[in-house]
Order: sequence, then structure tokens, then C-alpha cells
Amino acid sequence: MIDWSKLPFGYMPTHANIRCIYTNGTWGDVTVHTEETITLHMAATCLHYGQECFEGLKAYRGNDNTIRLFRWQENAKRMSKSAQRIGMPEIPQELFKDMLFTLLKHNTEFIPPYGTGASLYIRPLMIGIEGKLGLNASTEYLFVMFCSPVGPYYKDGCKPVKVIIERDSDRAAPLGTGNVKVGGNYAAAVNATLRAHQQGYSSALYLDPKEKKYIDECGPANFFAIKNNTYITPQSSSILESITNLSLMKLAANIGMKVEQRNISLDELPTFEEAGQCGTAAVVTPICEIYDPIENVSYTYGSPESLGAQSMKLYNTLVGIQYGDVEDTEGWVTVFK
Ligand code: PLP
Ligand code: COI
Repeated sequence: MIDWSKLPFGYMPTHANIRCIYTNGTWGDVTVHTEETITLHMAATCLHYGQECFEGLKAYRGNDNTIRLFRWQENAKRMSKSAQRIGMPEIPQELFKDMLFTLLKHNTEFIPPYGTGASLYIRPLMIGIEGKLGLNASTEYLFVMFCSPVGPYYKDGCKPVKVIIERDSDRAAPLGTGNVKVGGNYAAAVNATLRAHQQGYSSALYLDPKEKKYIDECGPANFFAIKNNTYITPQSSSILESITNLSLMKLAANIGMKVEQRNISLDELPTFEEAGQCGTAAVVTPICEIYDPIENVSYTYGSPESLGAQSMKLYNTLVGIQYGDVEDTEGWVTVFK
């Protein structure tokens, strides 16, 4: 028996994963697998030259048992953009949808019950599989979709977290791959994440890689702040365009907040009323403290026990739409039947 309300954000085996192979310039048939491992050529381009991209989206079970997907088309689009950035083929939206719906059909019982705070996390993944020695693009690719029921990304759920400004490394370069979802960005962030955890912080907060003057994003999520009834989030070419953040910007505007997507200078940190991380895994996680190790100064927001009022309102509206409790006026939800 799965204890749905105590699920961590982690991998759990399910009934099936879905696969499709690209070869000779075309995508093949969609196939269903129970095997959790992949056999690869040791010279596969994903292993040496990082030809790998992925996505993250969720399926939610509503109070009426309806299963909803949130803006999956945006994940499909972003996956194609990521793939193309590193020389891999586009994924047709119809193929993405076919794989997604086949995955849900085979794993419906793993979509957590309503009211447990859990959801089904879906992880599409594409890798170059041709064995090659010279630096070049593979001509063959494997596209896999698997899923796992998950609880909150940060172990205390929706409780505020502390983050530490990362000064010793960058996750992305100014003209690098920070704006797409490729494995290399995450590899570059592993050490800083480990150091952040060792020092008692939930994640590293990256600065713009060129000038180190502005906030970029957290390792696994975008950054936002709130002051004077304004939702403020970084404009940067080295951060991922978060679908959650785009949605929060729209929801903030809908409730009469001003929305600013612009550079956020470090000097502005003391002026914010609320701060937070947002993403599919992180949902809306408030930040109660940002520590800057160079200045040895901490900026604090709200209380470690509670969400700021405006973050809370945005969180409730977003999650309400995802679970079907709040009307989906933007047409963001697709019902899985
Ligand atoms: N930034 C990074 C680096 C991420 O890995 C993610 C997660 O996908 C996000 C932001 C949030 O993006 P989204 O809201 O589309 O999940
Ligand atoms: C997501 O939010 O979907 C992500 O991919 C972030 C990841 C680090 C778990």
C-alpha cells in the first residue's frame, strides 16, 4: 500500500514506461515497456557529449476523480527547443501527446488520490544513442517517458526554505544552454547543491553568469519576489523559461498585481516583502531567507512558518486550477480520458 500523503519527491517503479526511437530521419512506433533499464552503446553521444534533454510535468487527480494535465503543450514545445539547441531532432506535438496519454493509460492507478497533496510526475527524456567517437550529433535517438507518484520537492512541503547565493560556480554561460532543459545545466549545478545542503540550505541561488549583479534562478526552479503589489521575476537569457512562472505572472495580473520581468539587482534583495521559487516540482515554495556568503548577510522574508499572503493566494489559485477546484479560465488544463 502506498502512503500517498507521505510520498517524497522520488522515483517509484510503475507499470510501464513508453519509448520511441528516431532513426533514418524519422520517429518510429510508440512502444510500451516494463523494463526500467536502458541498454546503451558505450560510445553513445549522450554519455560523452551530453546529447540529452528532458522535461517535467504532472498529472493531478481531482475531487471528482477527473485526471488533469497542466499546459502539457508547453512542455512539448520546450522539449523540442531543448533538443534542437543540442543538435537533436524536434519532437512532433502529436508524438509527445501519444506517448503521454499511453503512459497515463498504463499507470492510471499511480495517479495519487485527491487531497493527499501528491501528484504523478512525468519525466520525458531524449538521448543520443548512436555510438560515435568524434564530436558530432548522433543520427539515432531514444525518447522515453516514465512517471512516478510524488509528494513535495522540498521535504517540509510548502513550508518556506532558505537558499544560499552561489558565488563559486555558474550553472550556465551567457550564451550557453541555461535557457533549455538539458542535463549539462544540472551537472554544473550538482556541486553547489551539495554544498548548499551541507550548510543547511535547500538550494543554491545563481547569479547572472556575466556580471554577477543580478538574480538568475535556483538550481531546480525560477525565482520570484513580491513588493508593492508587484510580482517581480528575472529577465535573463541563462534561465529556464518556467511554465509555472509564466502561469503565475498571468494569475498575478488577473488579481490586479503589477508584473515585472526584468533584471533583479542584488541591491534590491532587502526591499522585498515576499520571495519564492516556482516550478513543476517546487510548485510555489516561499523563501524565508537568502544568505549571501560574500557579504555574510541574510535577507529574510515573512516567517519561517507561513507563506506570505500574496504567494499564498497565487499558490492556491495555481494548485486549485491544477486539481480542478478553481475554474480554468485560461484553458490551461487538458482532461485525460
Ligand atoms: N528552472 C529550472 C532550472 C528547472 O529545472 C525548472 C523545472 O523544470 C524550472 C525552472 C521550472 O520550470 P517549470 O515551471 O516549467 O517546471
Ligand atoms: C521540474 O520541476 O520538473 C524539474 O525538472 C526540476 C528538477 C530538478 C526536479
